Amino acid sequence: MKVFAVANQKGGVGKTTTSVTLAGLLSQHGHKTLVVDLDPHGSLTTYFRYDAERITPSVYDLFEQQLRSGHIGDVTSAIRRTSYKNLHLLPASTALATLDRQIGSRDGMGLVVLKSLDQISHLYDYVFIDCPPVLGIAMINALAASELLLIPVQTEFLAQKGLERMLQTLKMVVRAQKFPLQHLIVPTLFDQRTRAARDILQELRQRYGSSVWSSQVPVDNQFREASRLGVPLSIRVPHARGVEAYSELLDFILHRDVPFRQVMGQ
Ligand SMILES: Nc1ncnc2c1ncn2[C@@H]1O[C@H](COP(=O)(O)OP(=O)(O)OP(=O)(O)O)[C@@H](O)[C@H]1O
Ligand SMILES: [Mg+2]
Repeated sequence: MKVFAVANQKGGVGKTTTSVTLAGLLSQHGHKTLVVDLDPHGSLTTYFRYDAERITPSVYDLFEQQLRSGHIGDVTSAIRRTSYKNLHLLPASTALATLDRQIGSRDGMGLVVLKSLDQISHLYDYVFIDCPPVLGIAMINALAASELLLIPVQTEFLAQKGLERMLQTLKMVVRAQKFPLQHLIVPTLFDQRTRAARDILQELRQRYGSSVWSSQVPVDNQFREASRLGVPLSIRVPHARGVEAYSELLDFILHRDVPFRQVMGQ
């Protein structure tokens, strides 16, 4: 089982779209794929037509069980089917918003997602963890559970500032938790007609070098429509421009023979 986290502290950069589209593609290729929603807003959960206000059990219950009894129960009971073959969801509930307050700095709470995925590692080939745009216990769990972190970055004004903040945060987390973490910056929402977007892309590549994916995801308004309808765009319009880009990204991350850069630069 390969586990990827998708995170950026900046909102609206394409985290959920990246999770849904990559997972959609893999499931279409016959791979058993799980998406995990760690965002209390539950965008991914809503995408697949579950209600994050009411759903139970959800990923929240796994945290709650760990907190209450020191271990997690049966993870499969929290997993839901989606309307799509080979694609399952571990949903978020809005109660996730209370986690940081409840947990504080209690020991062992950073590994709940890792332990949950260990329990079901024989059931899935690929897992994507969609993170909320804040650094908290959910993001720390996602980082500890994944082998590669994808950081979508919108190619717009101030992108670099947000990215710098995200990388600083990651360094802090990795230093504190002492786990290695590979990462890849994924330029998103790229509008090649605008000079600003082209300049920003070039700046990203100059500054972060091989940490940046060699291609980019273009603006493709079909993503919004697919999201409204609750269908991965890869399933609705398999040859959409945006889908082609995510296919290329998938090839890049699955068939690469050298490791990705680590957050601490080792
Ligand atoms: N390549 C794209 N082209 C056009 N629209 C896109 C693209 N990627 C994402 N979007 C749209 O932009 C909006 C934000 O995307 P998304 O929800 O994936 O971002 P996010 O980083 O998960 O946001 P949040 O931080 O709120 O969780 C959505 O309406 C989505 O449909
Ligand atoms: Mg999101």
